[in-house]
Amino acid sequence: MVRVNSHYQMLQAGYLFPEIQRRIKAFSAQHPDADLVRLGIGDVTEPLPAACCQAMAAAVEAMGTGTGFHGYGPEQGYHWLRQTIARHDYQQRGCAVEADEIFISDGSKCDTSNILDILGDDNRIAVTDPVYPVYVDSNVMAGHTGPADDQGRYGGLQYLPLTADNHFRAPLPATPADLIYLCFPNNPTGAVATRAELQRWVDYARSHEALILFDAAYEAFIQDPDLPHSIFEIEGARDCAIEFRSFSKNAGFTGTRCAFTVVPRSLTGRTGDGDEASLWQLWNRRQSTKFNGVGYVAQRGAEAVYSSAGQAQVARLTSFYMENAAIIRQQLQDLGLAVYGGQHAPYVWVRTPESMGSWQFFDRLLQEARVVGTPGVGFGAAGEGYLRLSAFNSRDRVETAMARIARCSLQ
Ligand code: MLT
Repeated sequence: MVRVNSHYQMLQAGYLFPEIQRRIKAFSAQHPDADLVRLGIGDVTEPLPAACCQAMAAAVEAMGTGTGFHGYGPEQGYHWLRQTIARHDYQQRGCAVEADEIFISDGSKCDTSNILDILGDDNRIAVTDPVYPVYVDSNVMAGHTGPADDQGRYGGLQYLPLTADNHFRAPLPATPADLIYLCFPNNPTGAVATRAELQRWVDYARSHEALILFDAAYEAFIQDPDLPHSIFEIEGARDCAIEFRSFSKNAGFTGTRCAFTVVPRSLTGRTGDGDEASLWQLWNRRQSTKFNGVGYVAQRGAEAVYSSAGQAQVARLTSFYMENAAIIRQQLQDLGLAVYGGQHAPYVWVRTPESMGSWQFFDRLLQEARVVGTPGVGFGAAGEGYLRLSAFNSRDRVETAMARIARCSLQ
């Protein structure tokens, strides 16, 4: 009989969001008329920017003509999109990123997992706690960890706690790490990193020959012009970092699928023999073999994000969600809860009241307010005692959720 990948047996329960879905389904089966407000998974709700829709409609038209039809595109993405991204997101910010260092993909979730294909199995890995669960689970699946302990921490991973005491700023690894996952603006805590903080990480990575996997999927939500949007704004980052970006949250592409990963040409790792190997070449090889690129229509839609109309529409979308975040923050603070994040990120990280556990608070909000959040402990042991609320919903639903939470018993 065929053998399965036994590392999957070590994964805990379900992936967080399907597990929440399972609980919602059970609740809805018991309360079929319950009107739930979903502030759990960070899925966008507002329509796509008009500029993207028009560009995609034109692309669909073209695909139906002999001259405008496109078959397989380049696995790395169309040059016109890579060039537009390089110019707009990097060169105009003073970052030396070239078009051929940008690899278009169908999502950061896939890329942050797939990147493990080109990395060795014996790297010492550091993740924050709490953390976006994909980074951890993909390493479990690849056999890079031992089993989980009773707090859900996997053997072999170094966890860097993000707590209110350290202002949700991860300490540098206490023991050397080769591979470090960072996400700013942070999912789930909503914290952001200053230039000085990122410089500290880059300096660490360079002095330890480590690689930083930098997830910047939420950079569009940064409000303070002094905060960096990319790790490549930091000196030395081209020697030690790969960056993941997405059109999912800024332009509402969660259902359209388009993202990109930046791998500097000069970035290297070591082979088993100790020789240097180009990570760009390995990723290019991996993508060429295992990926056929993102659809032409979606890439034309992504390109339109950078048109002047697209930029204005995306700015309106991100401001809209950030206004939601401000409403959530304010209302929870008015209830006397300790609230973090939500100022440069679409996530609000709230301390549970009266030492309630994360799942207990999740259940309380579900039962009494019919509001779905995400239990902080689902992001890691240090997330216990927190709940994440997403700002991705309509104004009306956010206000409804907040009014209902205000009527809940929070003891
Ligand atoms: C989240 O809620 O954390 C995000 O939706 C996850 C994702 O983008 O995959």
